[in-house]
Amino acid sequence: MVTILENFSLKGRNTFAVDAKARHFCEIKNEIQLLSLLETQTFQQSCRFFLGGGSNVLFLDDFDGLVINLSNKGIKILESTDEHVLVEVAAGENWHKFVEISLRNKFYGIENLALIPGTIGGAVVQNIGAYGVELKEFLHSVRGINVKSSEFITLANDDCYFGYRTSIFKTKLKGNFFITSAIFKLLKRPKVNLSYNELKQIVRRFPFIKPDPKYVFDQVVRLRQSKLPDIVKFPNAGSFFKNPVIGQEQLEFVKSKFPDVPNYQVDNGWYKIPAGWLIEMTGWKGRRIGNVGTYDKHALVIVNYGVNNGKEILEFAKKIQQEVYEKFNILLETEVEIVS
Ligand code: EPU
Repeated sequence: MVTILENFSLKGRNTFAVDAKARHFCEIKNEIQLLSLLETQTFQQSCRFFLGGGSNVLFLDDFDGLVINLSNKGIKILESTDEHVLVEVAAGENWHKFVEISLRNKFYGIENLALIPGTIGGAVVQNIGAYGVELKEFLHSVRGINVKSSEFITLANDDCYFGYRTSIFKTKLKGNFFITSAIFKLLKRPKVNLSYNELKQIVRRFPFIKPDPKYVFDQVVRLRQSKLPDIVKFPNAGSFFKNPVIGQEQLEFVKSKFPDVPNYQVDNGWYKIPAGWLIEMTGWKGRRIGNVGTYDKHALVIVNYGVNNGKEILEFAKKIQQEVYEKFNILLETEVEIVS
């Protein structure tokens, strides 16, 4: 049996804390409930939005459809060798809790992704990344249901078409594939990834400390807490824009004005530059219009200081986008999913 609620406030279900209402809302705790939901008229006739932890979404208005929130739980080991462990995690589990449990059990690899808010399902859709690691590097496969055929299928890593904050679940399969669990292939032997500049610098500063995965976890937690706002005090959805990837010519143009522009090569002739830097250089760091503003310690994070309507947040973001474009000729793309 599933219960479908009407005119459900999503305020407590999105980290921007906007007060949008879903015409229909359904919380799913297990696969049996999911199968019964697929048979309902409401499901078949509504436009649908699959909601995870709500930490990367901006509702512009009330959602005239069905919002489905999967809150299934469970973590189990499927296979273990001297080198690896395969762990299946339910889509509704909290991502950071999984990172902590993995580390406590001496399963390594994802410690650089500590403290990212949201669920496993959302983390997979988004191919979360931070401090030199992306989820796709440790993702073995994804299990879920094709909502058109009601069939459970497993997609291997390659079938998910992971990219920078994207996957097939955001493109071809959007709205039609419901992730129920993800299987991760984690390392049994500790191996740390210190490729991210800030982590490298910490290690250089304290040469007498030999960094192990727990140390990396602690440093990532510390770094994130030092510059990203607490979602309870400052409702936000992390980076609002993606870091743009630009060509050589465009980079030269930016360098002609700002010789010290931070950048790193991602491909032959292509460079990623931090959107946070572009926003700061445009004068928007810590700036506020009414009850929306950028965080004063990180320009890429937009904070809701008290609006109920997502449109005001988007309007603020568009002003930033426009000024960055005028100054640098670079169009910032949203990283947050905008739902209207
Ligand atoms: N910077 C500024 N001003 C700012 C913010 C950043 O100049 O106000 C510049 C600095 O040069 C800094 C550089 O930007 O060195 C990079 O900043 P940071 O290390 O904070 O990372 P980011 O590129 O802004 C990305 C991810 C984050 C992730 C961090 C750490 C995107 C869109 N964001 O941010 O992910 O935590 O790297 O790896 O790729 C998220 O996706 O929501 C998220 C928070």
